Amino acid sequence: MPTKAFLTEDEMPRQWYNLAADLPSPMQPPLGPDGNPVSPDMLAPVFPMNLIEQEVSRERWIDIPEGILELLWRWRPSPLHRAYALEKALGTPARIYYKNESVSPPGSHKPNTAVAQAWYNKEFGIQNIVTETGAGQWGSALAFACSLLGLHCKVYMVRISFDQKPFRKIMMQTWGATCIASPSNQTHAGRDILAKEPDTPGSLGIAISEAVEEAVSDKSGKTRYALGSVLNHVMLHQTIIGLEAKKQLQKMGEKKVNVIIGCAGGGSNFAGLSFPFVNDKINGADIDIIPVEPFSCPTMTKGPFIYDHGDTAKMTPLLPMHSLGHDFIPPPIHAGGLRYHGMAPLVSQGIIEGLLTPRAIHQLECFAAAVQFARTEGIICAPETSHAIAAVIQEAKKAKEEGKEKVILFNMSGHGLMDMMGYESYFAGKLFDYELPEHEMGDALKAIENLPKPKIAKTGKW
Ligand SMILES: Cc1ncc(COP(=O)(O)O)c(C=O)c1O
Repeated sequence: MPTKAFLTEDEMPRQWYNLAADLPSPMQPPLGPDGNPVSPDMLAPVFPMNLIEQEVSRERWIDIPEGILELLWRWRPSPLHRAYALEKALGTPARIYYKNESVSPPGSHKPNTAVAQAWYNKEFGIQNIVTETGAGQWGSALAFACSLLGLHCKVYMVRISFDQKPFRKIMMQTWGATCIASPSNQTHAGRDILAKEPDTPGSLGIAISEAVEEAVSDKSGKTRYALGSVLNHVMLHQTIIGLEAKKQLQKMGEKKVNVIIGCAGGGSNFAGLSFPFVNDKINGADIDIIPVEPFSCPTMTKGPFIYDHGDTAKMTPLLPMHSLGHDFIPPPIHAGGLRYHGMAPLVSQGIIEGLLTPRAIHQLECFAAAVQFARTEGIICAPETSHAIAAVIQEAKKAKEEGKEKVILFNMSGHGLMDMMGYESYFAGKLFDYELPEHEMGDALKAIENLPKPKIAKTGKW
C-alpha cells in the first residue's frame, strides 16, 4: 500500500483555477471610502497592473507563465501522504490524506504565491516589495522569492511574533530582506497606534497599514505592496495545491473525497486546497468543506458578512467579507498567522452560499492534535496547521462512531520548526483557551456600523 503519491514536473498543472468564475452569485466589488466600486486604476499605486488584472479576472483558468513554473519546480509538485499511523492511532475507518506544503524552502504554502507575485512585480519593472507578516511564514516566503528574483524586500512583522519567533527574522535576513517589528516608528500608522497603546502585541491589520503606507509613499514608482492572503489573486496562485492533490488522489486509487479541511487565517491555504473541490461541489458532488479558525479569533463563525477594511488604518479598500472589525486586536495566541480580523472575500462568499462550513477550535485541543500528529506521522506542524489537524481528528472520530469509510483530505500548510516556543509553553502548561467575550466583539464591530453593507444571497443569486 503506497504511503505517498508524487507527480513529475511534467504532470504539474499548467493553469490556476479561479473560483470567481463559478460561484453561484457574482463576487461583489471592493468599495472606496465614498462607497463606490474601486476601479483597477485606483489600485495601481499599491499593486502592479498585471496582478490587478488577475485580481478582477473572471476567467476560469489562468495560464501559469513558464518563468513561474521554473521557480515552483524548486520544491513542487509537493507530495500527498496517506496518514496511516494517525489512522491506526485513532482506530478510524477513515482514510486520511495530507498535502505536504511544508517541503518548500521557507516551510509553508506561502511561497506558491510569493514567487508568482515577485515574478509579476519584476515583469512590471518594480524593484522593492513591502509587506507584513504574522507568524513570519509569509515574510520569509516573500524574502525567499525576492532573493530568487533580485528584488528588495521589507517586512513589517507583528510585534508578538517578532518576539516569539526570532529565527523567522533571521531567515528573512538570510534571504536579504529587512524585517522590523510592527507597530513601528517608521510610519504614521505605526506611530499613531504606539501613542495609544505602547504595549500592544500588534496585529496583521496594523502591519498591513504600515506596509501599504510605505509602498504608496515611494514617489519613484518602483515600490509596491504584496499581500500573502485574503485577495483573489493570492487564492488563485494557491490553487496549484488542490489541482495537484486531485491528480495524486487518483494515483492513490481514490475516486471520491468526503471531507476537505484547511486552517484559515486570511484563507489562502484553505482556498488553495479546497477551491478545485468546491467546483466539484457546485457541480453536484457531496463534500464537506471545512475552514478552521481559532475560537479566540472567530471571524467566520461569529463575525458578520460585511464590507470592511483589510487593515486598521483604513488604507485598503472595503472588501465584502466576514470580519470582526478592522480595530479588532486578537488575543496573543500562538498561531500568529490565524490572528486576522477579516477573511478572504472568496472564502466568505463560499460560506454564505452554503458551500463551506467553518469551524472554530480552541488552542489547547489544537496543540494536543499537533503533538499526536508529531508522534504518529513524525512531522512537527505549525501552530496554524494544528487547527486543521484538530478538525481532521474530530472528523476521523466521527467516521469511527458512524462506522463509515470516509476519505478525509487536509492541507499540512507548514512545519513548526521555528515555532517551538509555542510547543514549549504548551508542555509547560502555560497556554490557555480563550473565548472572545461578546462585549469585546461588539466593541470592535461598532467601528464598522456605518460602512456600506454587501448583499446577502437569499436564493443562491444576489
Ligand atoms: C503554516 C501556516 N498555515 C496557515 C496560515 C494562515 O494563512 P492563510 O489562511 O492565508 O493560509 C499561515 C499564516 O501565516 C501559516 O504560516
